[in-house]
Amino acid sequence: MLDHAIRTFTDDLTPPRSVKTLNSLLFASILAKNYKEVSRIYLEFPKIYSIQPNVDTYNTVIKALAESGSSDSVYSVFAEMDRNSVRPNVITLNNAISGFYREEKFEDVGKVMKLMEEKYRVLPGLSTYNVRMLSLCRLKRSSEAKALMEGMLCNGRKPNWVSYNCLIHGFCREGDLEEAKRLFRDMKMRGFVPDGACYFTLVHFLCEGGEFESALEVAKECMGKNWYPNFSTMKSLVNGLAGVSKVDEAKELIKQIKERFPENGDKWDEIEAGLSQ
Ligand SMILES: *[C@@H]1O[C@H](CO)[C@@H](O)[C@H](O)[C@H]1NC(C)=O
Repeated sequence: MLDHAIRTFTDDLTPPRSVKTLNSLLFASILAKNYKEVSRIYLEFPKIYSIQPNVDTYNTVIKALAESGSSDSVYSVFAEMDRNSVRPNVITLNNAISGFYREEKFEDVGKVMKLMEEKYRVLPGLSTYNVRMLSLCRLKRSSEAKALMEGMLCNGRKPNWVSYNCLIHGFCREGDLEEAKRLFRDMKMRGFVPDGACYFTLVHFLCEGGEFESALEVAKECMGKNWYPNFSTMKSLVNGLAGVSKVDEAKELIKQIKERFPENGDKWDEIEAGLSQ
């Protein structure tokens, strides 16, 4: 697919090429995880085809560097942007710091934030906070991510449901279910609506941690919205409930699931039969 896109682009019969088609090509290379090709296209094509790269071009290249663990090279992209008088924007900032976080180069994160703010007047936005929180949670540094959100709130900036989702997922993964539950309550209290994935994550990890009653509560809440956790999560919830002598609740749950997914009826009959033994 990528080969085809490149051939179409380089083919002489192709109608006038533009920065837009160049950027699409770079993006296609990222999707194909072909970072070598990103670098080749970025270095060669603008010259060969006389295309002036724009901020999207550079942002895409920085994204590729970040994803491929070559973040040190983003500084040379900044220099190239300067030479071509292309101003970075908040996406440049987000893509660059996301890579440095991934490589655990925290000093560079600070350096880039400072550079963006002082030299280019690019201020971190909510999206920047979310990138930072997501990056920290991925590194199992959810407490630091939470401190970041608390700092936001102190400064009168609003997080959104994405910020909460990422923290809830992060604390679940680190096994701190109390904190995850607290954030889940806090999120709803502040009027943010959790999405399906947030509910499913909580139910999954609460079951894994043996907190079947809390898991049941969360599961009921999302099922009320017609969002059902997947089969393996529901199965562990049902079995878990039965294991803590909540067989009636388990059976009620099975009844609801069977009504919603009659095609899985047999599988659930089997599980139900296992419960009453
Ligand atoms: C089911 O959902 C949980 C929680 O979202 C997820 O971690 C798990 O990988 C899913 N399992 C399958 C088989 O899709």
